[in-house]
Amino acid sequence: RRIAVVFGGRSAEHPISCVSAGAVLAALDPDRYDVVPVGITRDGGWVLTDPGQRLAIVDGELPEVAGGTPVTLVGDPSGRGLQRLDGTGERIGVDVVFPVLHGAYGEDGTIQGLLEMSGIPYVGSGVFASAASMDKEFTKKLLTAAGLPQGDHVVLRDPSGALSPDPALLDDPTRERLGLPVFVKPSRAGSSIGITKVTDWAQLPEAVATAAAVDAKVVVEAAVPGREIECGVLATPGGGLPQASLPAEIRLHPGTDWYDFAAKYLDDAADFDVPADLTPEQTRAVQEAACRAYLAMDCRGLARVDFFLGAGPDGAERLVVNEVNTMPGFTPISMYPRMWAASGVDFTALVDRLVEVALA
Ligand code: DAL
Ligand code: MG
Repeated sequence: RRIAVVFGGRSAEHPISCVSAGAVLAALDPDRYDVVPVGITRDGGWVLTDPGQRLAIVDGELPEVAGGTPVTLVGDPSGRGLQRLDGTGERIGVDVVFPVLHGAYGEDGTIQGLLEMSGIPYVGSGVFASAASMDKEFTKKLLTAAGLPQGDHVVLRDPSGALSPDPALLDDPTRERLGLPVFVKPSRAGSSIGITKVTDWAQLPEAVATAAAVDAKVVVEAAVPGREIECGVLATPGGGLPQASLPAEIRLHPGTDWYDFAAKYLDDAADFDVPADLTPEQTRAVQEAACRAYLAMDCRGLARVDFFLGAGPDGAERLVVNEVNTMPGFTPISMYPRMWAASGVDFTALVDRLVEVALA
């Protein structure tokens, strides 16, 4: 089987996608797969990358798709796959694509649409689930409709336009209702890029401008107190209900304020409990909510659902979905593969199953 692993891309999560792809490439058994690594440069060019390309963070330096033979995707019924743009024009037939892409132009339904139009099977969610899960506004709407509680939030449309830097971005009653701190987030982004924790309303205009530089739509979220819990969801080959992994917990080290980009990938800023120290009832509640969120968003193949587990306003324990990631990180420290490994599905088996579901 020939599998194209596509990574990099035009989003700010380009380097994280490279690191994820490095781990996925290492997990594909060369006896069973003919693997074609395809990098997308930061400006959107597709290239066949060198097998020797560095796809890891070394001494804090992030990897990037540099160069390679330019290729284009072809959906011609006589041979779907890639075509070299180097003068040979050679076709490389592809049976399945694994888009190991995070963020815009990868996790948001765009490449999924391109692959649909090309008639090439691919790993992961389709156009709608990808687009809806990438967008925090619509994720919250769909999860609320499915009865999954959401933290309080406000959506600011085009805040870089007429509204900004008006300090009245949020009126006083809204500020009072949300309380401090708030997290100001680009509606469509990942890896905490563009997010600011605001502890004083005076910081709001700058935080909104930072988020708006990533996405013209900005979400201001009330902080949800509680433990940070994540859960992996994986489709069952042959159909049927998806399965949830054992949940994991992220415990920030003292002195780390919140789980930002550096805390996620660069600093030794957190302990990861895989599995999380939860009661059997809590574990079941997390797993059930993760599967419900996956189904509510119409996901396919895989998702990582992130939660806050804490006390609600009435003091009772409350599980709030923070977000649904349709192409979660696959880096060596990422939670999704680690949660599955702890649940009895190692990295190689996980990738096999994702490919099997994609081809079903
Ligand atoms: N957006 C990053 C890659 C994650 O969710 O793991
Ligand atoms: Mg995310």
